[in-house]
Amino acid sequence: MRVPIVAANWKMNKTVGEAESFTADLPGDAELYKKVEVVVCTPFTCLQAVSKGLEGTGVKLGAQNMYYEDKGAYTGEISPAMLKDLGCTYVILGHSERRHIFQESNELINKKVKAALVHGLKPILCIGETLEERQAGKMEEICKTQIFGSLQDITAKEMDQIVIAYEPVWAIGTGVNASVEDADSTITFVRQCISAKYGTEIGDKIRIQYGGSVKPNNAVDYFKQANIDGALIGGASLKADSFYSIVKSAAEVCGC
Ligand code: PGA
Repeated sequence: MRVPIVAANWKMNKTVGEAESFTADLPGDAELYKKVEVVVCTPFTCLQAVSKGLEGTGVKLGAQNMYYEDKGAYTGEISPAMLKDLGCTYVILGHSERRHIFQESNELINKKVKAALVHGLKPILCIGETLEERQAGKMEEICKTQIFGSLQDITAKEMDQIVIAYEPVWAIGTGVNASVEDADSTITFVRQCISAKYGTEIGDKIRIQYGGSVKPNNAVDYFKQANIDGALIGGASLKADSFYSIVKSAAEVCGC
């Protein structure tokens, strides 16, 4: 049985003080955080404060991006070792905002995935099609290219450390969430792609989240799908009470 994973993606939101208020407001619910793996991915500037605020809660810390080199002359970049040092367990890689606003390619994302693994960080690898790609019937082709491009040379053993987030670009931050049927069928397709490359054991084991306008009032519908193993949440993760309510529904519906 796959343990569901619910991750907050704060994006470029919150000062340190606001991040501290969030951790103070998030209920300490050790039993719940055993049933559902919970991750809070903050801006780099909040990592230290959130790491402290989450101490002893069982909730894990994640970053939203990183560079692939260990150190050196890369002004403005952050290395995997720096994230590890601050207590990160996870790092979101290949988010659609990175792909589209910052032109990150599958090749670059692949380097980041490899570097994360070398440093013991678990990637939450994001994939997803734009509205134009969906309308042109290219959804599966795009997802497949993103998966295999980003996972080039990743071994079966390393796949254990990876979580995939399927996030259709048109559903992110728009309030227009994908229908449960659409999310489920694409996630089933993604799982088939993983099985085709790595075998069914790994295909059955890998956790695949849905992301894109997940809210407390629609999360449960996704969690009821056998193939959907949690969610990556933007807007609704900014407030501790709405994030917590989504985590609770994941535990009720699909927690171990
Ligand atoms: P959203 O963002 O929940 O605000 O749509 C999801 C994401 O970008 O990960």
